[in-house]
Amino acid sequence: MRLWSHFGPDVAPVKSLAREPDAQRQPTTPMKIRARLLRMSRLRVLSGIQPTADSFHLGNYLGALRQWVALQDTYDAFYCVVDLHAITLPQDPALLPHRTRVAAAQLLGAGLDPDRCTLFVQSHVPEHTELAWILGCITGFGEASRMTQFKDKSAKDGHDQASVGLFTYPILQAADILLYQADRVPVGEDQRQHLELSRTLAQRFNHRYGQTFVPPQPYILDEVAKIYDLQDPTAKMSKSSSSPQGIVDVLDEPDAIRRKIARAVTDPGSEVRADPEAKPGVTNLLRIYSALSGEPIATLEAKYAGSGYGVFKKDLAELVVASFAPIREKTRQILADEAGLDRVLAHGAAQAHQVASQTMTAVRDHMGLLQPVP
Ligand code: TYM
Repeated sequence: MRLWSHFGPDVAPVKSLAREPDAQRQPTTPMKIRARLLRMSRLRVLSGIQPTADSFHLGNYLGALRQWVALQDTYDAFYCVVDLHAITLPQDPALLPHRTRVAAAQLLGAGLDPDRCTLFVQSHVPEHTELAWILGCITGFGEASRMTQFKDKSAKDGHDQASVGLFTYPILQAADILLYQADRVPVGEDQRQHLELSRTLAQRFNHRYGQTFVPPQPYILDEVAKIYDLQDPTAKMSKSSSSPQGIVDVLDEPDAIRRKIARAVTDPGSEVRADPEAKPGVTNLLRIYSALSGEPIATLEAKYAGSGYGVFKKDLAELVVASFAPIREKTRQILADEAGLDRVLAHGAAQAHQVASQTMTAVRDHMGLLQPVP
């Protein structure tokens, strides 16, 4: 038997697990029943976001959230606030519940609709950690050691400071995805390697134990896959490494947004032109402008020909302010009704659990783990 002989990427033909209607999800009105049935006939997406800050930033918004909102109408969409990923780095227990709610409220504020997608908190569905353990047992130590995000984060704070949880983080992410049999995973470029691992683990498990998981594919939009830091346009805009001036937050006050964009690092010269090598700062701003306005970069270059950086930045700032103002307002309203928000998350967790528990039953069965007696 060659089950444990290597950790190479075994490849097996794959077919989606059947998505049976489940009795306990019980949508309440005929309209909701129809909507739920329609959703179940679609391909599935899943994605997650960490509640590690008081606000998401422009990179999260353009690289991921906007796609999440758009995909809920064409896919059976599952989205989670990944609090268990957040605790791979120290979190203040007094802040984490608030940040988890703020994260969920922003997702709803940005346009997720609990009638059109399943929104939940990762730790509310215990199957995530259960499957993570199992997947950890088919992941090679060397394979996990090659994950660049772990290498970067552990190098930053020193190897002794890095937790085992930070090391096994991508395996928990694979569990998040594979539990829901997700066909596509909308993320930014920084998650590509983690998605490759998820796909490899799905294929390996299928090969060893029989068809169980859908190998997921990344859903990454090139134009917004990597939004850069406004103060260092060669580095990714990032909650953990950017300076406050380098990040535009979704929940920033309008004046803060204006100030940060006015002070964004631009490049020598005054021409508003995309050129990633010679003009990384202006190129980043053009990409942001284009993504938010829907205008192609060439149109923007023509529009600002000869007008210099000042006018361009001013218009961009107003565009960002106008894009985020409704999200900020809706987030504020949602947070004002904490009990209502918690109900939405409880409903989402119950829906998610239905799917996750079916997958876990199949996983246990295929691996030979004795099923618990109900
Ligand atoms: P997180 O919380 O760091 O980021 C959430 C999403 O935002 C994207 N993103 C960016 N996109 C473009 N430009 C940027 N500067 C930028 N910064 C962040 C990220 O790519 C991500 O899509 N490991 C994940 C969370 C996760 C997950 C999952 C994702 C846990 N389980 C399952 C997908 C599926 C993370 O830390 O994302």
